[in-house]
Amino acid sequence: MKKSFVYSFIMLAIMATLIAACGGGETAAPAVPEGPVVPAEYAGKTNSFAGSSEAIAEGKQVFESTCAACHGDTGLGDGPAAAALTPQPASLVEVNKTAADDYLLWRISDGKEGTAMVSWKTSFSEDQIWQVISYLRTFK
Ligand code: HEC
Repeated sequence: MKKSFVYSFIMLAIMATLIAACGGGETAAPAVPEGPVVPAEYAGKTNSFAGSSEAIAEGKQVFESTCAACHGDTGLGDGPAAAALTPQPASLVEVNKTAADDYLLWRISDGKEGTAMVSWKTSFSEDQIWQVISYLRTFK
């Protein structure tokens, strides 16, 4: 009699703990990140050239000689090489609306796996990539 009472008590305690743990888990659930997570190497970086018209001019040159073939002169994703690609290049006008600086730095530096977007960090310095981002920010 006494033993089974102790047993029931222990079972109740275990169940109570489990229920509390589950309930707690629901409220403290970690936020599920939307979209890909920017790697630590780039996360949180911002463009120190932002707003500089010189940087925009430098970035324009790089963009027109290197990126426009795919992304198009105005960034709409309609460059001469675009039609042959799957997936097609993004409209940078659209990307511009939602993408943070660190995301753009990451994508342009490292490329996008499974697409024609290659890594550009060996062709351009980080400053040059920021200048391209400055120019890209003018796309509307
Ligand atoms: C050979 C064609 C090609 C060239 C050249 C190219 N891109 Fe891309 N780019 C793509 C494709 C394809 C994608 C992947 C699909 C997408 O997200 O647009 C992409 C993706 C991107 C993205 C990420 C979009 C997103 O939503 O994740 C950015 C930003 C970008 N390119 C900028 C550039 C810049 C800046 C240059 C020049 C330094 C460049 N690209 C050169 C084809 C190209």
